Amino acid sequence: MINDTDIEELKQLTSILLDPNNSVYRLRPEVLALTDLFNHSSQFTFDIANDISDGESLTSDGLAVSPKMAAMCVDDYIRTIMFIRGLNAAIIEKLNVISSRPIHVLYVGCGPFAAQAVPLMTKFTASEVQFTLLDIHNRSLSCVKNVINHFNLASSVCDIINTDAANYVIQADAKPDVIVMEIMQNCLHKEPQVTVSRNLVIQAPSATLVPQSIRIELALINTQNDLAHNQESDSPLSHKVLGEVFCLSKSSILNWQKQPSSNVLTGNKVTIQGPIEQGFQPMLKTQVTIFKEHQISNYDSGLTTPIPLSEYSNAKVDENVQFSYTLGVCPTLVAKVTS
Ligand SMILES: C[S@@+](CC[C@H](N)C(=O)[O-])C[C@H]1O[C@@H](n2cnc3c(N)ncnc32)[C@H](O)[C@@H]1O
Repeated sequence: MINDTDIEELKQLTSILLDPNNSVYRLRPEVLALTDLFNHSSQFTFDIANDISDGESLTSDGLAVSPKMAAMCVDDYIRTIMFIRGLNAAIIEKLNVISSRPIHVLYVGCGPFAAQAVPLMTKFTASEVQFTLLDIHNRSLSCVKNVINHFNLASSVCDIINTDAANYVIQADAKPDVIVMEIMQNCLHKEPQVTVSRNLVIQAPSATLVPQSIRIELALINTQNDLAHNQESDSPLSHKVLGEVFCLSKSSILNWQKQPSSNVLTGNKVTIQGPIEQGFQPMLKTQVTIFKEHQISNYDSGLTTPIPLSEYSNAKVDENVQFSYTLGVCPTLVAKVTS
């Protein structure tokens, strides 16, 4: 049922979350308030007895997390705010060049709340932006329909699709202007962001891909120093970056198209250049550029928390490491010592 008080609260929260004068690090209460609105409008019921993995799907291209897990992701609040801000900026850029029709946003893996899109539906009119919401889990889509009705947003949604996005064929008359998705973990482990992005970008190469890039770098990191560092301070963390090992972006996807088809994507070769100072170790950092200045990195989110290289390879100082990315049921970065 449509609820005018909740619509007003959603609009107010959206403008607070989008205001660049508000530090993202201070906005967790607003994200919790947003989550409350989503929980009751979606009629999503958590069965406490159930494990968060109940309802997940293991596809041939990676793990699709359960609706419960997808709902819980909203509380990864810096991620959530940065995605909303980045998607907002990507839409504005398209609106500046397309005025003859609404912008079409394809939101892949929308989960039970369509958390990145619903706030923006209160900001842009239906004649400015139309959203297609897609998820592999029908249970999530039933919840999303409740959210859309509760906030009276049906006119902003052109389609709701239940399918595996890795095989989704975009209709010729439904090419998106913006494709947004967050179906990943740190180091692009396990979930199908790479395969799904590839499938969609190849079909709609002029669309803006959000995130614009997901870069994995090898760096020497002292986690104790990092723990003592204030996230909000302007001083950078003392990471010594050794090189980029793998990148997912529109240009890398189009480059892979030029190579023979394979389930292994070639990454870069990086040397673990010593000496390694006391307390430092080689770690893999995931940096997500959602759109332009809207970025998350380091400890902002579970998506960007650094992982020790030792989880992938026993490479030692001054050795060269060749990186690649293997697609399939458990997609993963691979690191091999080489000459
Ligand atoms: C990490 S959750 C993100 C939820 C929400 N978009 C957010 O940002 O809060 C990932 C979502 O992607 C969906 N998903 C995963 N793999 C998928 C696939 N191959 N096709 C369609 N949806 C998929 C999952 O069902 C889940 O809802």
